[in-house]
Amino acid sequence: MSPQPTGRYVSTTVAGEPVEAFVPDPLPPRLSAQRLATLTEPLRDAEAALARLNLAGEMIPSLEWFIYAFVRKEALLSSEIEGTQATLVDVLAWEQAEQPGASNIDDIEDVTNYVAAVNHAFKEIHSQKGPPISMRLLNDCHRILMQGVRGATKQPGELRRSQNWIGGSRPGNAVFVPPPPEQVADLLGDLESYIHAENELAPLLRIALVHVQFETIHPYLDGNGRLGRMLIALLLDHWQLLKSPLLYLSLYLKQNQAAYYRWLEAIRTEGDWVGWMRFFLVGVAEIADDATRTARALYARVSEDRHLLLKTTGATVTAIQLFEQLPEHPIVTMPSVTRLLSISKPTAGKAIDVLIKAGILAEVGERKRDRLYRYDGYLGLLD
Ligand SMILES: Nc1ncnc2c1ncn2[C@@H]1O[C@H](COP(=O)(O)OP(=O)(O)OP(=O)(O)O)[C@@H](O)[C@H]1O
Ligand SMILES: [Mg+2]
Repeated sequence: MSPQPTGRYVSTTVAGEPVEAFVPDPLPPRLSAQRLATLTEPLRDAEAALARLNLAGEMIPSLEWFIYAFVRKEALLSSEIEGTQATLVDVLAWEQAEQPGASNIDDIEDVTNYVAAVNHAFKEIHSQKGPPISMRLLNDCHRILMQGVRGATKQPGELRRSQNWIGGSRPGNAVFVPPPPEQVADLLGDLESYIHAENELAPLLRIALVHVQFETIHPYLDGNGRLGRMLIALLLDHWQLLKSPLLYLSLYLKQNQAAYYRWLEAIRTEGDWVGWMRFFLVGVAEIADDATRTARALYARVSEDRHLLLKTTGATVTAIQLFEQLPEHPIVTMPSVTRLLSISKPTAGKAIDVLIKAGILAEVGERKRDRLYRYDGYLGLLD
């Protein structure tokens, strides 16, 4: 296949050193019908996997907790790509009890910021007066993602004003030099227009295009990967491929990071969009099936444990109410239970005891005060 240009290089200087920055052509690229035809099967597989996930999502009486867990899992994985070290349990423990475990607060902050940004984005696009998917919305998400200590120097909520680069110690020896800062706003404007324009390409393929274009523009000083992956989730919703935000590609992109980065390169250097699309579709199918399995397993687990609890002698209404809260709060403390159910400490203590007796909750650690109790059967399915 002969290389197809997907943009042009412009000369610019950074600290007196000349560099060639890449300016991508606006979407959509010209794609050969013959090569597109090779995607028929993987496209059908990915769409079918998404349909199955939609059904599995409907099976769950409360979608809230499933999404809750998945957003956290995605956030963790996303931050792991970036190199943070928090575990799911650290984050949940921190959220429920405001007490971090062994890992450091900055790492947890990255994860909770990511969760907050995803929640904000979905709330906005679902609200009646909310903005459509727009660069303004992404700026807002970037601000949330970068809040706190670590992001403070990364111009939260703002497009970059300087030339950046990927790989290498300076732009001159970089793997990739994204477009000059003064072109970023226009390029994002084009991307936004593409998202809202009519196009005959299958929506899943359009999502694959949009993600790469976003990464190529690299509009922010940091967080471009996380926002680009969030954009995938938002577009799945926008183009009605999924009814709820149930699919997060981070795991696939992390497990296949070398190939992922290679594809980003291959599009620019060889114009191989179709190869990337195939890689993307395989990931969507794999992750969707994985999410479907997890949804079913979680559902089965909660149903079984509910059954078990109802058979436990001494199961009180409060214990059952506490159990129903566990999927959303799989780590609790006495104070968190009193808050969740608006009950007294002794009543909360009794409810926790019943769930321990039923083998649903287990105490973790050896703290004397504000002990942590964990729903391990459930957390085990997520980690
Ligand atoms: N050669 C490349 N060309 C274009 N984009 C690339 C290239 N290599 C990596 N990227 C993208 O850049 C992202 C990293 O950019 P950045 O550090 O701004 O994002 P992040 O959210 O902080 O990190 P991460 O994606 O690792 O969580 C990668 O996830 C990938 O999407
Ligand atoms: Mg980064």
